Amino acid sequence: LGVALCLVLALPAAAQEVRLPAPQTKGALSLEQTLAQRRTWRSFQDDPLSLAQISQLLWAAYGVTGHKGSRALKTAPSAGALYPLDVYAVVGSVPGLAAGVYRFRPQGQALLPLMAGDRRQAAAQASLGQMWAAQAPVMLVITAEYARCTQRYGERGVRYTHIEAGCVAQNIFLQAEALGLKAGIIGAFRDQALAHALRLPSGHAPLLVMPVGRGR
Ligand SMILES: Cc1cc2nc3c(=O)[nH]c(=O)nc-3n(C[C@H](O)[C@H](O)[C@H](O)COP(=O)(O)O)c2cc1C
Repeated sequence: LGVALCLVLALPAAAQEVRLPAPQTKGALSLEQTLAQRRTWRSFQDDPLSLAQISQLLWAAYGVTGHKGSRALKTAPSAGALYPLDVYAVVGSVPGLAAGVYRFRPQGQALLPLMAGDRRQAAAQASLGQMWAAQAPVMLVITAEYARCTQRYGERGVRYTHIEAGCVAQNIFLQAEALGLKAGIIGAFRDQALAHALRLPSGHAPLLVMPVGRGR
């Protein structure tokens, strides 16, 4: 027991996974309305987002919607169902969730803490100083681990990975609208600086940053 207790205590607190509320599959707005309303937003109120809203946005982005054998299938299409992307949440203001950087774990609808502390300003700074993005209570970051796709498809896997990131981004846009929220999208950032600011694992290349919150 003593050894077990020591092992538990030795684990960094940051390793604790956060289970998210179950996502909903019904909403108040039609798909057509969300498409008609969608715009890139660049000004946000400093209202917090709820854990349920974060959960819903992450599920829409890359959540599990079915299975084919033992393989999970997701909200976004993926060449060969290889799913080379990850979605990170740069959390600033979400009651019940400490500010920090988290990795979304689709299987289990959970967040894995990577880094403690509010990294929104650092992420906006790395985004060529687009500081408006740091107003949003949460920034979602889509990253690619190309090898998951290129080991089957070679160089063409890079193209497939980028196309998939676009699908995920649109899912986030439409879900934000359906929740009465707004999203921005940023492709202009310094790759290394952003990866460093968020302590992304090596091999996870950031592709898009999407601030989400209540629009101003
Ligand atoms: C791949 C990509 C990268 C983008 N990067 C940025 C960016 O760094 N900063 C920004 O303010 N908008 C960025 N945008 C948003 C575009 O400026 C915006 O989509 C375009 O002006 C059309 O406006 P709408 O999205 O509101 O319809 C990006 C859009 C895409 C698809």
